[in-house]
Amino acid sequence: MTTSAQYQLVRLANGVHSLHSVAERETFHPVIGPAAEAEALYVRQLRLRERLAEHAGEFVIWDVGLGAAANALTALRATRELDCSLRLISFDHTNEPLRFALDHAEALGYLLGYEAPARELVERGRIAFANGAQRTEWELRLGDFPALLAGAVAETLPKPHAIFFDPFSPAKNPAMWSLPLFTRLFQLLSPERPCALPTYSRSTLLRVTLLLAGFHVGAGHATGEKEETTLAANTPSLIEEPLGRRWLERAQRSHSAEPLDGLSYRQAPLSPASWEQLQQHPQFR
Ligand SMILES: C[S@@+](CC[C@H](N)C(=O)[O-])C[C@H]1O[C@@H](n2cnc3c(N)ncnc32)[C@H](O)[C@@H]1O
Repeated sequence: MTTSAQYQLVRLANGVHSLHSVAERETFHPVIGPAAEAEALYVRQLRLRERLAEHAGEFVIWDVGLGAAANALTALRATRELDCSLRLISFDHTNEPLRFALDHAEALGYLLGYEAPARELVERGRIAFANGAQRTEWELRLGDFPALLAGAVAETLPKPHAIFFDPFSPAKNPAMWSLPLFTRLFQLLSPERPCALPTYSRSTLLRVTLLLAGFHVGAGHATGEKEETTLAANTPSLIEEPLGRRWLERAQRSHSAEPLDGLSYRQAPLSPASWEQLQQHPQFR
């Protein structure tokens, strides 16, 4: 195990290496490892290769929780053969995990071949480069994501076609899973630009939050780490397995379904107002 003050390099049971955050006491991609989880949860589930191949013009991805860049780099590697333009906007309030990962690129594996652009991203905050046949622009928005989203500058960001949503868990990182945050995120999307957001949690609380924020929500693929994840989108056409009335009935009975306000983590059943609003969602009518 290699350690800095804030991160440790850990070897998972399958022999793959990942990062562990000392402060949050959470391991990034703890079961199948960084690249395998990124491939299953984001690349395959979003049909990224297919969507990029069919896409005309710039394709925009928001990478929320850059961390050690496993999601970002797995997406870049998976799409490098495609003659296309990709704009990748990563968000994090620290670039320390990526700095740490660069110092352990050999053990982590997924950074190999991308050390130079990743280092430039850390040093300068942006890089434009040829990623195989792909024209890639990659920038890092360093700062508190909820605060950035709430500000006027968020309106000026290119609207995403896909969002990788990968903060720490809701219990550790409640500000990143709140109803105000997802409501604002939904408002920032363009109705003319279909956009899908996969994330690793399948909790009722998260799914209710996404629905009340305006998203359509479905069951997401298994990843090897989780038997089910969640896929949200601003159009039903991007959701293969939409949550239906049986899920709604279970949500009504759940002891943990009421969205978080962003200040703290707590578990509570749906309030009457949330239940009322949930039933009016177009997905259930
Ligand atoms: C599980 S890690 C992300 C792993 C990463 N996607 C990867 O592929 O390596 C969660 C990340 O969310 C970031 N994060 C947590 N709260 C945040 C906030 N309020 N604003 C911005 N980033 C935040 C953390 O700094 C951390 O890097």
